[in-house]
Amino acid sequence: MSNYLTYRRARVAKAWNLTNEIVLCHGGDLIPVPGGADQVFRFVPDTEYRYLADHDEPGCLVAFDPKTGWVEFRPPVLEAERVWEGRPPFDWSDAIRPMTEFDAWLTDRASRPIANLGSRMPLIAAAPELTASVRERLMQARRPKDDVELARMRAAVAATVAGFRRASEYIEPGVTERQIQIELECEFFRHGGDRPGYNTIVGTGTNAAVLHFTPGKRVVGESDLVLIDAGAEIEGYTADVTRTYFASGKPNGFRGDLYNAVLSAQKTAVEKCKPGKEFRELHLETARDMSASLVELDILTGDVDNLVERDAHALFFPHGLGHLVGLGVRDASGYLPGRKRSTRFGLAALRIDLPLDVGYIVTVEPGLYFIPALLTDETRREQYRDAINWSRVDGLLDIGGVRIEDNLLITPDGHENLTAAIPK
Ligand code: GLY
Ligand code: MN
Ligand code: MN
Repeated sequence: MSNYLTYRRARVAKAWNLTNEIVLCHGGDLIPVPGGADQVFRFVPDTEYRYLADHDEPGCLVAFDPKTGWVEFRPPVLEAERVWEGRPPFDWSDAIRPMTEFDAWLTDRASRPIANLGSRMPLIAAAPELTASVRERLMQARRPKDDVELARMRAAVAATVAGFRRASEYIEPGVTERQIQIELECEFFRHGGDRPGYNTIVGTGTNAAVLHFTPGKRVVGESDLVLIDAGAEIEGYTADVTRTYFASGKPNGFRGDLYNAVLSAQKTAVEKCKPGKEFRELHLETARDMSASLVELDILTGDVDNLVERDAHALFFPHGLGHLVGLGVRDASGYLPGRKRSTRFGLAALRIDLPLDVGYIVTVEPGLYFIPALLTDETRREQYRDAINWSRVDGLLDIGGVRIEDNLLITPDGHENLTAAIPK
């Protein structure tokens, strides 16, 4: 086993500080595509497992006993898998044992409390409170990136930079969303990407207001905004970047104003990222910043603090400011223990509530959108009757939206913007 994995596991074991309890973490199994297709869905291991095992083979289990240490159990590679898929056989060692030995390992530890992490094993009688606290401590341990993770992340970013460069050159009126996606993803692969780290979003015109839009046949128009949210993945690590472009290459009218409002708020938010900064506060500060711009643009009316307290901003900024990213597009995001997800319209979508710390990689991704599903809703129109210039909004429902997203590594002095090489 590699030195860094030994070191990583030792760091996790220290954070767990267990004496008698044992930990199991299963990575999940292959799922067949129904209908006799002789296909399986692409296997994506649980990120808790992948962090502790550092590979993406299906059907495996990492087990930890504070008295005897770590062991991994793997199903033997079948002859058919070697024939059809070319999977190499495993080299068994003390640290990697056949899954057939797992029952005996567990029987030897009968009556010890079990934390059941990863893709939970259904037949294991686990201790729910122990599982929750072991999971929480693993999340905390995962957040600061180690050198190997950071190197993979930088490689993923480099491929992502190449993809955005190509896409930005390619965009012009007349091309389709799909063609933009193809150019972008081709370049990811050419620069070492294993795959896109999540479904690529290319939203043009009104589609730019659909937060997770799937690119299709739509043809880019002269005055369109083109929103691309994508990242290359390498060895499990993915970038998560958004840029919004003007189809014609030049800012036009209100779309340009909207772009500048988001860009200025994004730059301000990025500058504030440093150890100790509470992300929830940053989210609200950015909401106030963008609300002030919307007041200037005669979209919102009233006092900015009051507008944000009433969540009026969330009609145009209905998602959180960001999340942790790295090992998967959400990495070890979440809330610190004791912090509950708010039910407030303007806060409920926040994916992290924690102070930033050295080694974390966080996205900063404010956006402003004209989303008909929110802005034509009668209840919301009534609730925000006095806060929004509705006649002006009604004339802008086809404009789409703008999002700008970077990935920041938090450093002792502040941050390093890993995705700064992608122009905005
Ligand atoms: N790509 C989804 C997100 O930005 O969170
Ligand atoms: Mn994104
Ligand atoms: Mn994101």
